[in-house]
Amino acid sequence: MIEKKKLSISFEEYSSVDELSKSDKILCLESVKAMSSSHSPYSGFRVGVAVQLESGKVVYGSNQENVAYPSGLCAERVALFTIGSTYPDDKIISMAITAQTDHFEIKEPVTSCGACLQVMAEYEKKQSSPINVLFYCRNGSIIRTEGIKSLLPFAFAETRLQK
Ligand code: THU
Repeated sequence: MIEKKKLSISFEEYSSVDELSKSDKILCLESVKAMSSSHSPYSGFRVGVAVQLESGKVVYGSNQENVAYPSGLCAERVALFTIGSTYPDDKIISMAITAQTDHFEIKEPVTSCGACLQVMAEYEKKQSSPINVLFYCRNGSIIRTEGIKSLLPFAFAETRLQK
């Protein structure tokens, strides 16, 4: 027998950075700065990420493209792998993600690709605490989720590797 099931996710939507907590607002504004190092000559799509660590450090990431397209990497993973390799014991508190392109005006928050969500899930598991994720659109709204469970409810988890 087929059972139909529903899954609900929760997130917050803000119409302006002024509605966010002070630290979330600062991080969103920092993510704009991160776009300046984007290497995106092929898509013309710049993505910037700012990550707040428990120590107070802010780490930045931007998308890095390559002429051999699959060799490039999204901004989120650039930032997260930098943290994993440079500050492995510093907890990730929050991350803000923003994007812009010369081709059109982005009017909605740009949400992360599945591969980046999977990497966020990995670092949440590693540090045993959720990451506050902010998707910031300068000409639109801001989406906030406390932890990535709402973004990737069926995440591949370690329990699947065990009998
Ligand atoms: N991109 C990111 O940086 N993050 C995402 O979550 C999705 C896409 C980048 C990859 C590529 O450089 C450009 O955006 C267009 O896909």
